[in-house]
Amino acid sequence: MKVVPVALGERSYEVRIGSGLLARAGDELAPLVGTRPVVIVADEHVAPHLATLRRSLRACGIAAHDIVLPSGEGTKSWAVLERLCDALLEHGVERQDHVIALGGGVIGDLVGFATAILKRGCRFVQIPTTLLAQVDSSVGGKTGINARAGKNLIGAFHQPALVLIDPDVLDTLPVRQVRAGYAEVVKYGLIDDADFFAWCEANGAALLQGDADARAYAIAHAVAAKARIVGEDEFETKGRRALLNLGHTFGHALEAEAGFSDRLLHGEAVAAGCGLAFDYSATIGLCTRETSDRVAAHWRDSGLPDGLSASGITAPAARLVDHMRHDKKMAAGTLPFLLARGIGQTFLDKTVSLDRVEHFLDNGAR
Ligand code: GLY
Repeated sequence: MKVVPVALGERSYEVRIGSGLLARAGDELAPLVGTRPVVIVADEHVAPHLATLRRSLRACGIAAHDIVLPSGEGTKSWAVLERLCDALLEHGVERQDHVIALGGGVIGDLVGFATAILKRGCRFVQIPTTLLAQVDSSVGGKTGINARAGKNLIGAFHQPALVLIDPDVLDTLPVRQVRAGYAEVVKYGLIDDADFFAWCEANGAALLQGDADARAYAIAHAVAAKARIVGEDEFETKGRRALLNLGHTFGHALEAEAGFSDRLLHGEAVAAGCGLAFDYSATIGLCTRETSDRVAAHWRDSGLPDGLSASGITAPAARLVDHMRHDKKMAAGTLPFLLARGIGQTFLDKTVSLDRVEHFLDNGAR
């Protein structure tokens, strides 16, 4: 088992990564929960994993209640949050108790937020079951739900007490979901780790075909990168954590245009968004065209969209830029963009003109 510490003072915790870890979850959780029962909140699509987890807890003498919620972004709503909080209270959850989030990013974000506000904060454990949640959303404590005005607009920073990652659960994940999660893996290379991007170029195909060693290496490397960045800037106030938003500004506009539906998964939008961020960086002379072509080629090799046209979104540029104006990162009339001087050389630029971005999207963006 690989252990990645997330160093946040009194909010520090471990991310434990290992094949077969779900079936050993009871042993991992026993020292944390003691004699108290836990509540598992699970996505309806992870019933076999829920059964494995329950067996493991029972074998360790840990009593568990479960709450199964519908899959999909609609679950990150006020209505489901209210139902969940009421159910947790009915189960008698106390402040020192642990609620377990078993599922993808939707369940992790919702349970994280519910436990942030329940009794002014109780504990939770993340057991992510998608690649995207394993390498990104389960680590770092961003929690929340969606509002009518946009995604993730209601939320809190609330760190889990432990994250357990079993890469074997990806065996049953639809390949499109694995690819979408892989976009967030590659993102770490693009941000500040050119060697890791080269590793992805050499090993991405094997990873996507289910090679266990490649998968385990990539997950551990991505989690370590996330832990390092979150450790430097937990609350995204110092410009470091914002780097994790690479590809998200362009990607958010594409996702918004797709109505945040399965037409374009978040990871697919991030791939296309990173493609556009490098394409734009090359267009304004920050990086070479060869660099942006290299990024685009890796997305295509991985079966991911490399830019606007491959994303399938055909909206006029003005409409996409309008979505950007409603991005929650918009501050005092400007939208910070993540641009790149090269692979692994991403930086935050707060001076990008949205008119120029619109011109780029209208005139030759990939
Ligand atoms: N997913 C970006 C972050 O955790 O900051």
